[in-house]
Amino acid sequence: MVTGTVTQGTLESQKTGMLVVFTYEDAASAEYKQAESVLKDELAELRKSKEFEGKKLQTAMLRTPSQPFAKLLLVGLGKKREADLETLRRAAGTAVKVAREFSGELAVPFRAAVAKGFAEAAQALAEGILLGNYRFLRYKTQGLDEIKTLKRFTFLVEKQVMVKPARSGVERATVLADAVNYARDLVNTPAADMSPADLEAEARKLAKRHGLTLTVFQEAELKRRKMGAIVAVGKSSAVRPRMIILEYKRPGAKKHLVFCGKGVCYDSGGYNLKPRMLEWMKDDMGGAAALLGMLDAIASLKVKARVTVVIGAVENLISGEAYKTGDVVRAMNGKTIEVANTDAEGRIVLADCLSYASTLKPDTLIDIATLTGAAMSALGPNAAAVCAPDDRLAAEIIEAGDASGDRAWRIPMWDDYKEDIKSEIADVKNLGFSFYAGITAGAVFLQEFVASPERWAHIDIGCAVQEERERPYLPKGATGWGVRALTRFVEQG
Ligand code: BES
Ligand code: ZN
Ligand code: ZN
Repeated sequence: MVTGTVTQGTLESQKTGMLVVFTYEDAASAEYKQAESVLKDELAELRKSKEFEGKKLQTAMLRTPSQPFAKLLLVGLGKKREADLETLRRAAGTAVKVAREFSGELAVPFRAAVAKGFAEAAQALAEGILLGNYRFLRYKTQGLDEIKTLKRFTFLVEKQVMVKPARSGVERATVLADAVNYARDLVNTPAADMSPADLEAEARKLAKRHGLTLTVFQEAELKRRKMGAIVAVGKSSAVRPRMIILEYKRPGAKKHLVFCGKGVCYDSGGYNLKPRMLEWMKDDMGGAAALLGMLDAIASLKVKARVTVVIGAVENLISGEAYKTGDVVRAMNGKTIEVANTDAEGRIVLADCLSYASTLKPDTLIDIATLTGAAMSALGPNAAAVCAPDDRLAAEIIEAGDASGDRAWRIPMWDDYKEDIKSEIADVKNLGFSFYAGITAGAVFLQEFVASPERWAHIDIGCAVQEERERPYLPKGATGWGVRALTRFVEQG
């Protein structure tokens, strides 16, 4: 656990292992000017030698024996005009990874709002620090002593009146980062230790922690409710399928928001066995993980809302009981599905989740799923894909994402695409026209199971769920995409 605190103080008197100062390429930040007042020659020298010019995410470290702080880390924010909250998150993520190698504690002088409001800027910096410091160490037994990690950070604010807003920013960031890192842990955990039963146990722990109502439909109950789609996919595994339903409710909530999450704990592809990327497929419950993280955050923040989360938890394996290519299965809303490809299993599982969710008569219904590799082809890991018949809802999700650091982009779902999922022998098939327009094919299929599509959106995180390369505050592996965006979406009502 990393603790973040805010105190009033100046850098000249700060006893700390590492002082971190952010500044621009084309202007000196107030904090940099302050540092200049005590380290004039040293900083001038760095500028002159071009070792540090304030370029975006550039870093330079100085030993400062003449000062109460042992070292100074400079981090560039690029051009002042272009610096936004995401710049701060990334710069802070970059800073923590350099800083923690040298010191378990860091202090950040924080004089004025760098972007937007002061609390928001403090939150962005703290988020970058806490998300950037994340590591998944559950299975490491060796060399733990050598792994350096941050223990404490302090924001040094100039005036007493700044303490409160900065503190509220740090507190918010701590809640959000804990929730994101929790979702990352769930996704990073191998399928052997994160089966549908384990996911249920996680939901149970979360429900207990926050006083949420938990209902689990086990296989017999799924059958009784005629949820033939989730049962068909899930029967391939010794760990049987289940639907996990969590409810959060606080007085004052006006709307009922319902979220469905794909919880495929391992996706082998089934008989349409995946030719590659099998080693990634423990991440196929990333949608479910994002929703558990979101619940953790909104419950901690005591958001006035009524939220229900419906998770379809299964494994898509090959076995004597597994569903087969060509099978026809029937979802809870009565529609029949031709299984054109057993690897397009997420949409089959979600068919029952969305059918069930529709019976709850939600004001807004959103599903989040690692649905397609096509999302990766279209967007790469930089954004999630959003499909929604309603322009406003799509815009609301994308805006919540932009503001929170979880980027998303809209993909069309015109009615023309509905032709592509027509089946010869059933109502619909789980594949579009060839593999074209893969994201949209998934979305128009899902729409068949939504009673009121005007207030429904589908988020495909097949792209954004994992990072292959390390980014400033996103480690390799699970990103936790969706926790911040959906928390913000819920907060905005
Ligand atoms: N879980 C996969 C999608 C996926 C692939 C997510 C790679 C992240 C990385 C999904 O179940 C799947 O296999 N989708 C198929 C759909 C196709 C058969 C229509 C795909 O994208 O290839
Ligand atoms: Zn699949
Ligand atoms: Zn899948």
